[in-house]
Amino acid sequence: MAAESDLDATAAPSGGGDAPASAKRAARKTAGLESYGELYGSSPAMRELYEQIERVAATDATALIVGESGSGKELIARTIHERSARKDAPFIAVNCGAIPDNLIEAELFGHERGSFTGAVQGRAGYFENAHGGTLFLDEVTEMAPIRQVKLLRALETGTFYRVGGTELQQSDVRVIAATNRDPLVAVKENGLREDLMYRLAVFPLRAPPLREREGDRELLAQHFLDEMNAQEGTDKVFGKRALDTLRTYSWPGNVREMKNAIYRAFILAEKTIEIEHPRLAARAKKAVTQGGAMSVWVGTPLADAQRQIILGTLKFCGGDKRRAAKALGVSLKTLYNRLGAYEEEEDAAAGEE
Ligand SMILES: Nc1ncnc2c1ncn2[C@@H]1O[C@H](COP(=O)(O)OP(=O)(O)OP(=O)(O)O)[C@@H](O)[C@H]1O
Ligand SMILES: [Mg+2]
Repeated sequence: MAAESDLDATAAPSGGGDAPASAKRAARKTAGLESYGELYGSSPAMRELYEQIERVAATDATALIVGESGSGKELIARTIHERSARKDAPFIAVNCGAIPDNLIEAELFGHERGSFTGAVQGRAGYFENAHGGTLFLDEVTEMAPIRQVKLLRALETGTFYRVGGTELQQSDVRVIAATNRDPLVAVKENGLREDLMYRLAVFPLRAPPLREREGDRELLAQHFLDEMNAQEGTDKVFGKRALDTLRTYSWPGNVREMKNAIYRAFILAEKTIEIEHPRLAARAKKAVTQGGAMSVWVGTPLADAQRQIILGTLKFCGGDKRRAAKALGVSLKTLYNRLGAYEEEEDAAAGEE
């Protein structure tokens, strides 16, 4: 997995683990870069998306946004909300994948006092709190099928019961759902109910992966740099290598991955920002071990450092996985999982060449 995930679990504001989005002093507008709501991009794929958003925003239809990780699904949902008649009412984002299964019903629909251990007081759920506004259900495919039934009923009738409640509640909410899985595959393999899928996908939207947005990589990169410069009061520029990387790398983690790579490089740069092509960097990433010690560069992303430590330890242990796992304080299974993931990443990177 190349993308870093946002750290925001549930109804938190978006962008938890991302580079700063808001600029202290207004960034100058990046030449040639169009924007729509919170989205930036001038490619045909994005223009088409803006048109679709415009259309769906004028309605109350449920929308299902499908797209790879980091491709802007949440921004699309926010933009629909801002462009809709609901814009002055709340927008609530819920990461269904981050809420334990036994709590999700209470989170969505609220609960009454005494309905479960610890429920000292009754509490409204997101459906009630989002009244008049928009409820964004992220990673909706991660909900257990029995929870999906109640969601479907709420979508169809606009009514629901709080957990442990007997009074029928009503809430006027527009639901936008998102997933980074193919919904049809999710139905076949991941327990997404087909009826719910169709109910959500009244208006399906696709967040195009960054590699399909012709010309947007450079423009977006410049936009993020302008924002960071404005925020920090600096005047940093991209070097040639950075520009080449930004343009030619496929960015499997999409806008988030690119934005974070720029942010990291921005922090490390004095004036000229260089970004190593991740494929070349991966080659250089081979752990530098010296006896029992190894060195890791300042500013190495945590995931990369972890990889280096794991591979370095394995090498030190002469390839003995059991010993390496013990030295690392992880189970053998965890070590196998990590090694498997690294292999997949390398295969994916090799496939790009
Ligand atoms: N078109 C865009 N213009 C500007 N910024 C963008 C765009 N698309 C995404 N971003 C930025 O990229 C990051 C990821 O976007 P977002 O959280 O909307 O993606 P996502 O598809 O919901 O990701 P995930 O699947 O991991 O939940 C955010 O920092 C967001 O601001
Ligand atoms: Mg998201």
